[in-house]
Amino acid sequence: MNIFNTPLWVKHVDFDNDKLEEEIYNFQKTEPNHPYSSNGGYQGDLFYNKDWIDLVAANCPMREDKPLKNIMIYSWCNINPTGASNSRHLHADTNILLSGVYYVKVPKYSGAIRFWDPRGPLVHVQRDYEYFGDGIGYQAVEPEAGTLIYFPCWLEHDVTVNESDEDRISIAFNLSADFDGKSNCLDISEHNPFAQNQGHGGRYLV
Ligand SMILES: [Fe+2]
Repeated sequence: MNIFNTPLWVKHVDFDNDKLEEEIYNFQKTEPNHPYSSNGGYQGDLFYNKDWIDLVAANCPMREDKPLKNIMIYSWCNINPTGASNSRHLHADTNILLSGVYYVKVPKYSGAIRFWDPRGPLVHVQRDYEYFGDGIGYQAVEPEAGTLIYFPCWLEHDVTVNESDEDRISIAFNLSADFDGKSNCLDISEHNPFAQNQGHGGRYLV
């Protein structure tokens, strides 16, 4: 028996990644860089492709007894050239149901996303963790083009250095939805300083 498990949904979906790649490079030409977590890369807010948004909504993990309504997705694109990485961070906002990332282009050695054990550093130095656990404090996932990951917004993550000669391209998102009539909207208004600090905007109702 395990308690307090951390859910992570890793899927593989079919999408026209060449088209997405072209759209993202075009987006980069006109939209400013907001490198919230990026070290040496590009993060472009409000990147939007309706078919991709629909794909993310359609694949959203869902309980059969609690169907989701009014799914909203906020997305931004990431380009990590050679040498770029992303610092450890989280997306926590009480209106987010899940966060996630979709991979458009992942050359070999262009980096892994690492999810950090939310139980914190105290756990990582204990004997039981060394014996039963992996003892390293994080779980790395090496995606490929078409990989779609959903994770809790409070789960810290980072991206290792791109050691390839090509760009690594992804689209990250925060997703909100209504399942109880209470929460169906991410507040990214100027009146919410925390959301503004998170930086990522763009609200798309599926
Ligand atoms: Fe992130």
